[in-house]
Parts: sequence; C-alpha cells; structure tokens
Amino acid sequence: MHLPDYKEARTRDIRSYKRVNFKLDEKIKGKYKGKKFFIKTYGCQMNEHDSENIEALLSSIGFEKVDSYLEADLVILNTCSIRENAHNKAFGMLGRLKHLKNENRNLIIGLCGCMAQEASVVEEIMRDYKFVNFVFGTHNLYQLPNIIDKAIEENKQQIEVFSREGDLVEGLPVIRATSYKAYVNIIYGCNKFCTYCIVPYTRGRERSRKKEDILQEIDELIKDGYKEITLLGQNVNAYGKDLYEDYTLGNLLEDIAKKDIPRIRFMTSHPWDFTDSMVEVIGKYPNIMPSVHLPVQSGSSRILKLMGRRYSRESYLELFDKIKKMVPNVAISTDIIVGFPGETEEDFLETLDLVNKCKFDNAFTFIFSKREGTPACLLKDEISTEEKEERLQRLNEVVNKYFLENNKKLEGKEVPVLVEGVSDKKKMYFGYSDTNKLINFTSDKNLEAGEIVKVRIKSAKTWSLDGEIVE
Ligand code: 5AD
Ligand code: SF4
Repeated sequence: MHLPDYKEARTRDIRSYKRVNFKLDEKIKGKYKGKKFFIKTYGCQMNEHDSENIEALLSSIGFEKVDSYLEADLVILNTCSIRENAHNKAFGMLGRLKHLKNENRNLIIGLCGCMAQEASVVEEIMRDYKFVNFVFGTHNLYQLPNIIDKAIEENKQQIEVFSREGDLVEGLPVIRATSYKAYVNIIYGCNKFCTYCIVPYTRGRERSRKKEDILQEIDELIKDGYKEITLLGQNVNAYGKDLYEDYTLGNLLEDIAKKDIPRIRFMTSHPWDFTDSMVEVIGKYPNIMPSVHLPVQSGSSRILKLMGRRYSRESYLELFDKIKKMVPNVAISTDIIVGFPGETEEDFLETLDLVNKCKFDNAFTFIFSKREGTPACLLKDEISTEEKEERLQRLNEVVNKYFLENNKKLEGKEVPVLVEGVSDKKKMYFGYSDTNKLINFTSDKNLEAGEIVKVRIKSAKTWSLDGEIVE
C-alpha cells in the first residue's frame, strides 16, 4: 500500500526519474475477457487523454467498454481536484455506486486521477468508502492492470498512490476517442505553484517528454490519417526547459508544423513562459491553428501578485497585443477567477476593464475555490458568497458580449471546419473552425467526420455559428 503524502508532494525539487518503456505483464494479458468496464472522466483534457490510456490498458487485460455504468463489472472514476465542485461530483457518483454495489457484490470500483493524490480524499475513502476496491494516482497509471488484478485476487482494498513523480513511461497503449483528432502529451506536471492551484501537488513537477518520442508518436498519427493534433500539458510553454539547453515549444511546434499534418493545437500556455520566438512560429505556419488559450486569471496586478502568477496586468496586455499582431486572425481565449481572497470591487473592476480591452474570443470563468494544502487556502476570505456570485454574473455578461461580437465579425466569411459529425437533423453537420469555434452547417454532399471543408458563415450566436458548405 502506498498512501499520498502532502508534505512530499509539496517538495519543489524534482528527483531523478527514469524513462522506461511500458510492458504489459504477460500473466494477466486477456485474463478478464468477457468482463465489461465503464470510465467516468472529470476535468481537463489531460484526464480525458489519461482515460484513453486507461481504456487501452483495460482492453489489454480483456475488458470490454460499455456506455453505462449500470452494465459494467468494473467502474473507474477518473477524477479532478481543481475546484470543490468537481470533487463533490465524484463523491456524488461514489454514493450512487454504493447502492449499485449493494445489489451486485461483484462490482469492482476504482478511483484515480487528481483526487487520488489528495491525502484527505484517500483517508475518507479508506474510512467511509470501504466498498471502493482500488485507488491509484496520476504517477502510476501504467500499473493499473496489476493493481486491478491484485484487487480482484486478494479481494482487499488497494491504495497505490505515489506523491512524487514516478518513471516517465513511454509506449503506453491508447484507444483514442476519434480517428481524426488526437491528444499528445508533451510535458507532465507544473512548477508554477500559483497560490490557488492544486495541480502542482497532484501532477508533480514539470517533466518533458523527449522530442524524439513526441515526433515519433506524431509520425504514427499522421500515418494513421489523423488531421488534428493537440499538444497537451499544464503549461506547454515550459516544454523542454528541464531537458534541453535550447529546444523549446517554439522548436517543437516548428518541427511538427513541417510535417504533413493539417492542424496543430497546443494547450495550456502560461504567459510567463511565452517567448517572442514562440509567437513568431505560431504566426508563421498555417497549420498551427490561430487559437491561443492564455489564462489571465485576474486583471488586477495586486491580485496577480497574491496569486503568484509572475506577470502584471501590463505585461499580460503587452503579450496579448504581441500575439494579436504577430498571429494573423488569431482567437485568444482565457480563464478568469473571481473572488480570490482579498479581491476588492476595484480589483474586480480592473478585471472587467481588462476584458473590455482584450475582448476575448472565449473565456472560462470561475469563482475561487479553496483547495486544501494550497497557500491561498490559508488567506482570509472575507468576500461573501453572494458577492462572488454577483461578480461572476457581471463578468459573464461582459465576456458573453464579446463572444457574440467576435462571432458576428465572421458573418459572410468562409472558414475552414474540421467535420466532427452529423447534428440531429439530416444534412446538418458540426465541427470546429481554425479558431476553435463551434460551427453548425448544412451540406448537400455527404460528409465524413475528419474531413476539412470550407463553410460560409450565415449567422453568429454567442456560443456557436451557423453556416453552409461552400461548393
Ligand atoms: N479556484 C477556482 N478556479 C481555479 N482554477 C484553478 N484552481 C482554481 C481554484 N482553486 C482555474 C484557473 C485555471 C483553470 C484550469 O481552473 O482559472 O486556469
Ligand atoms: Fe495551476 Fe498555475 Fe500550474 Fe496552471 S500554471 S496548473 S494554474 S499552478
């Protein structure tokens, strides 16, 4: 048994870790043939991609995927800790699974992802959720087949969570959600330690994958006909810093852009690590999509300092303008937190003012959520819930206004769209534009998911655009 340890997770030094190739234990290959599994994924793209690996790991030991937990012999919750809300949802689901387990004693239940890295969550599971068969963390995903096998064979709760980075494992099997869009991890973990954020504790320090391994994975995806690749990391702009003297995200993007892949995306970017040469590369290659997610979090330099964000309102705006200038037709999206401890009405007004200046194409807005173990959790939080909710509502009104305003600018224009599927009505399709906007459109031709087509925009809404295919 390995329990999570917050003290260890807080350590900022990275211990030397090995880079190893995944190998399935032959003894359990196909062992659970005929058994069915269901995965519920919460949170970010990183978790979604981990679930694609989990799915393949389970298939390798014989499990088959089902679309409802009611039909499953094994249910895994891949959890998220970023805000209390995500945490509560996972515990709500555990409550439902408890009832199910009362009816079916053979049901196997597992919990993984970021919540598994939290000592208090694991304590609660060991105390009050004894029916959970196993818990494993983000650092030892590759051990899942053996953990499940042990949980079933020994019929005893297994807790296998490491608080420090484990080996960086290459060659994990993967079953991707689609045959045209793929996530590729380029860097794991985060070193930024923003004071509100739990990620550095649950995902560990920054560890870049070797460029050769990434490029090889991308070559295989191209061979398999993939059209869009999203490079993933908590902070992709720090790529390479821990590995190379002079090979950064800019170099990696350039090496990928020279390949025969129509669409490259990357997320998430921290403004601190965004260099001019990266902006230049993004602007230079037409297959690097003109879409940048650049979380600002607050428009007040005072709050940014308390958040430990390492940039000021002014330097964010400078970077924002540079990207707008150097990347033709770029859409910039952001994340914003309201109600950070000590945020005054003036601070909040600075955030609104920054939004009025940047007119973001998209924004994810949140109320500050206390995460145990983070420095901001200890700050005095005197803003009432009503006040926070009111600020969020005022913020949302402003950001929504700009989504619509930006979308309206596309009316009458032709945009490239990667077709994802057919909407409910016949001959209605949907997909995403180069700037990552959801486009619903009509076409007389039958289209396949994964095709890239030109669509003329007829009308804009706040969250999507309607159009028709260009003949
Ligand atoms: N409370 C509210 N929002 C948070 N985020 C991260 N931690 C917290 C927290 N404790 C938001 C940030 C980040 C996004 C992924 O989630 O805006 O960019
Ligand atoms: Fe969290 Fe900040 Fe790292 Fe993003 S950059 S994962 S907000 S600590």
